[in-house]
Amino acid sequence: MLVERKEIEKLLVLTAALESGLIDALGESARTPAEVGRLASTDERATRIVLDALVDVGAVDSAGEGGRQSYRLSAEGRRRLLDPGPDLERNSLLHQANKARGWLELPHVLKHGAPKERRRSAGSLKSFVRTMAEGAPEAMDEVVERVLAYSREGNPQKRLTLLDAGGAVGHMARRFRERGAEATLCDRPEVLEEAWEYQGEGAAQLNFHPCDFTEELPPGPFDVIYLGNVYHIYGPATNAEVTRRVFDSLGPGGSIAVRDFVLGRSGRAPMFAVNMLQATEEGGVWRESQYREWLTEAGFEDIRIIDLDHSDNQLVFGRRPH
Ligand SMILES: C[S@@+](CC[C@H](N)C(=O)[O-])C[C@H]1O[C@@H](n2cnc3c(N)ncnc32)[C@H](O)[C@@H]1O
Repeated sequence: MLVERKEIEKLLVLTAALESGLIDALGESARTPAEVGRLASTDERATRIVLDALVDVGAVDSAGEGGRQSYRLSAEGRRRLLDPGPDLERNSLLHQANKARGWLELPHVLKHGAPKERRRSAGSLKSFVRTMAEGAPEAMDEVVERVLAYSREGNPQKRLTLLDAGGAVGHMARRFRERGAEATLCDRPEVLEEAWEYQGEGAAQLNFHPCDFTEELPPGPFDVIYLGNVYHIYGPATNAEVTRRVFDSLGPGGSIAVRDFVLGRSGRAPMFAVNMLQATEEGGVWRESQYREWLTEAGFEDIRIIDLDHSDNQLVFGRRPH
């Protein structure tokens, strides 16, 4: 079998339950379909059918029978869909479902070369930017350690000024900050509003700079500029220009660190390129030779590309000469 049907159905029924409010209506309690329907403003018959399907996928437990049958989130369901913590998948499931909507439009992209114009709703913006923060902690920590190691070569105690460009809710910026860097987060203004809420009291520890990095970067100069998963959003001309802009915003000896799926080195790169096909005008995944060209042309030296141990993508490093 090429495709496991059950996984697709599981994703769609879980995200329907999240989007329509069934999961939050269950919360911590045991409830009948009628009670869930009242709280979520959903149809009772449809609610019962979906709750039974959620039992089938292990997200919900049920007890009793007939009119007295009640449902509550299982321990797994609470851990994956409700409770904050490293196992929470809520936003990434919603993001996967939003992606699936785009993938269903691929025949249009194939015909016309670009996706239909779509506006991101406030809900999908939230789940998109928060999905980034739901990545595996060990993968994020590895990136932070490797970026700091490259940037501090020859000066291990240096307190670094770091710009996280396209840093979403600041999940990486916060980690860099916790490892001693003075971190500035730059992203689009509407994303920084989400970041402010996501960071809570930690927001005061970060600098926030609304930006469109294809137009301008904060002036710096910074010791490190980190760009995680942003080169796949844009085409070669924009990436070349962003790389030059990064060079200009670094001090002498400063480092660029790009995290992305490098074609030819990441097993996930070809499928990820399809995702960019449905989501962007000209994004994609790029080969090592392409990254080397962008960095070299911008003036960077000591260019290195490494495979990460905890995720199927790469880090690309370069240094502005002293
Ligand atoms: C795929 S997410 C990556 C988030 C984070 N860097 C990571 O690796 O987890 C891309 C982020 O880049 C931001 N972004 C994309 N284009 C941008 C631009 N031109 N200016 C500022 N931010 C941008 C998006 O808003 C989003 O938060």
